[in-house]
Amino acid sequence: MAESAVSSPRTAQSPAGRLYFHPVPGVGRSDHLAGSTERAEAKSAMNRTTSNPSATGAGTGDWRLQVPESARGRIRTWLWSIAGMTFLVLIVGGITRLTQSGLSIVDWDPVMGVIPPLNEAQWQEAFDRYRQFPEYQQLRRGMTMGEFQFIFFWEWFHRVVARAIGVVFLVPFLFFWLRGHLTRAITVRALVLFGLGVAQGIMGWLMVASGLVDRPTVSHYRLAAHLSLAFVIFGYAVWLARELKTGETRVAVPVGARPIMRRGLAAVGVLFGLQVVWGAFVAGLKAGAYHNTFPLMEGRLVPPTLLFMEPTLVNFVQNPIAVQWVHRVLGTILGLAVLAFFFQVLRAGADVVSRRLNVALLGLMALQYVLGVLTLIYFVPVSLGVIHQAMAMVIFGVWVWWVHHVQKVAVEVRPTIQATTRAQVPA
Ligand code: HEM
Repeated sequence: MAESAVSSPRTAQSPAGRLYFHPVPGVGRSDHLAGSTERAEAKSAMNRTTSNPSATGAGTGDWRLQVPESARGRIRTWLWSIAGMTFLVLIVGGITRLTQSGLSIVDWDPVMGVIPPLNEAQWQEAFDRYRQFPEYQQLRRGMTMGEFQFIFFWEWFHRVVARAIGVVFLVPFLFFWLRGHLTRAITVRALVLFGLGVAQGIMGWLMVASGLVDRPTVSHYRLAAHLSLAFVIFGYAVWLARELKTGETRVAVPVGARPIMRRGLAAVGVLFGLQVVWGAFVAGLKAGAYHNTFPLMEGRLVPPTLLFMEPTLVNFVQNPIAVQWVHRVLGTILGLAVLAFFFQVLRAGADVVSRRLNVALLGLMALQYVLGVLTLIYFVPVSLGVIHQAMAMVIFGVWVWWVHHVQKVAVEVRPTIQATTRAQVPA
């Protein structure tokens, strides 16, 4: 959606009715309306936009342009597929966790593990293995084979889809490499993405392994690392796919709008990152099972059991009640920060893509807040838990898109036109 929006607008109108910019082509449309200094500055900014190699396809220093033009589209599709698959694994992973299926496969065999038990004897063997571990012994005594097969399926499916990302990565990688499409720069970036995927597989196993000793629950710290890494992989794939979208027309925004967006996006990014980590703590400690009321907990905004652990600070990372409280408070701060940022961006007179992303961010964040509350008050049903988690990744995608847009596509120009209506600008 954003591509066409980037290249289409010729003018942008701030809320105050000022017309600020003309994205390339169209340099000079405003010249007769601007003062000489402003005109020179605006022109130089516009020239920067026209000479942007990503817009013109010229130039050699840009790593993206060294990738053959005919292959860029296919490589982008490949990167989008990896991002899409990561999103899918996140959903399956969420179902796996919420159906309490995550500890059903008690060993890690990256290659042969793809094949599930195929006959009764193999099923019995897998079940017998599972019965040796704390989850069965402490929580699931008397479980039937049918129940075991259900939880086994989700964990197995989660692992299979995760491994399929490896295939979706490697097969096109080899194809592009053999065709000579992979320059050094794109190879390095692709291998970083692959390395993150491998690290995620190891992290996933470390997380499962933490639940196979003594207590049948995984470490919530490892769960947070596993979830965060999924966001990093998704975000990096989206970023790279956006990078390879060359030939985009750069858009100009008024002086001051870019720093506002950069600072705002940085602040929202930090708060969002913390919120995801504490969300994973809530999930890992099953803190959504406590205090299923909103906005009060135990009838108060600050529950009396908030700090029952010693030392005090430990509560914020280990006490389910305090962890849930932090997730509520941080979520509220994040929501208010996004709201304030929304109005700042409106006032700054940002370009049309930023304005759309602004609306998307605020709308999705509001929806996410409501979803979080519903997830809590309905005692974390699988459906709501999964949607709440998936929505966080969608929001992250919007954020990455916008950060990329502000860094790479938007350029600043001084206000050059004092026009009250669009009609006053000559065609
Ligand atoms: C507004 C921004 C919010 C974001 C970005 C966010 C994000 C997240 C994330 C990433 C998780 C981890 C999901 C998982 O690992 O399965 C999570 C879990 C959770 N969140 Fe939020 N959340 C937000 C607001 C809220 C609010 C306002 C509430 C309720 C008052 C809430 C309640 C929960 C609950 C109960 C869980 C645990 C669900 C489970 O056990 O699967 N969230 N959140």
